[in-house]
Amino acid sequence: MTWPVKISETQTEQARWRDKVELLHDLPQGSIGVELGVDAGGYSLRMLDIVKPRKLDLVDAWKQYPGMRRTQENHDKLYEFVLNSFAPEIEAGMVEVHRTSTQKAAKGFPEDYFDWIVVDADHTVAAVGWDMERYWPLLKHGGWMICHDYLIHEKKGVQFGAKMAVDDFLVEHQSASVVGFARAMTPFRAYPTIVLEKA
Ligand SMILES: C[S@@+](CC[C@H](N)C(=O)[O-])C[C@H]1O[C@@H](n2cnc3c(N)ncnc32)[C@H](O)[C@@H]1O
Repeated sequence: MTWPVKISETQTEQARWRDKVELLHDLPQGSIGVELGVDAGGYSLRMLDIVKPRKLDLVDAWKQYPGMRRTQENHDKLYEFVLNSFAPEIEAGMVEVHRTSTQKAAKGFPEDYFDWIVVDADHTVAAVGWDMERYWPLLKHGGWMICHDYLIHEKKGVQFGAKMAVDDFLVEHQSASVVGFARAMTPFRAYPTIVLEKA
């Protein structure tokens, strides 16, 4: 598989949103959401500005998993940066930061709880599949699961990208349907986002 995978013309033409930030305008104001994979909190910041969620849970291990280039020291700095960036919202109880794996964090949330879930943590096909399976029951009916990097690429024999996981998920879950795609933000590489709705 070559990197990046070209998005098919049909998908591009049918893209409902220009990018993953634009799609935030279609999420309900004052809703409850979670971002799996936060990094420096750039997308989280846009969620707060645009959606004005009642509650936003941010889940990231900020941990150097095997094969990751980023050092543990840099992960620690990112975590501190996110805590500082959202200090007022954390203080107000609007934002909660969970420094743990997505799978462990899932145990702390009730079923039918989230209005939307952003899946953007470990990008291996298996991990995206696990995150989707584990978090789907936590999504309300009518809620959206937003899966970033809907593509496939391979590095050192490991399959990355949400496309295979999402495509399998759609086959296995009749309660999931495609709402639309967001195109990538850069003209050089394709980083599309796919949005699923839970019936
Ligand atoms: C692509 S970045 C997230 C980008 C962010 N959503 C944004 O749009 O700015 C992926 C993040 O997932 C985190 N991550 C990777 N695997 C994880 C796991 N199993 N559990 C929790 N976080 C994980 C990494 O630490 C990294 O910060």
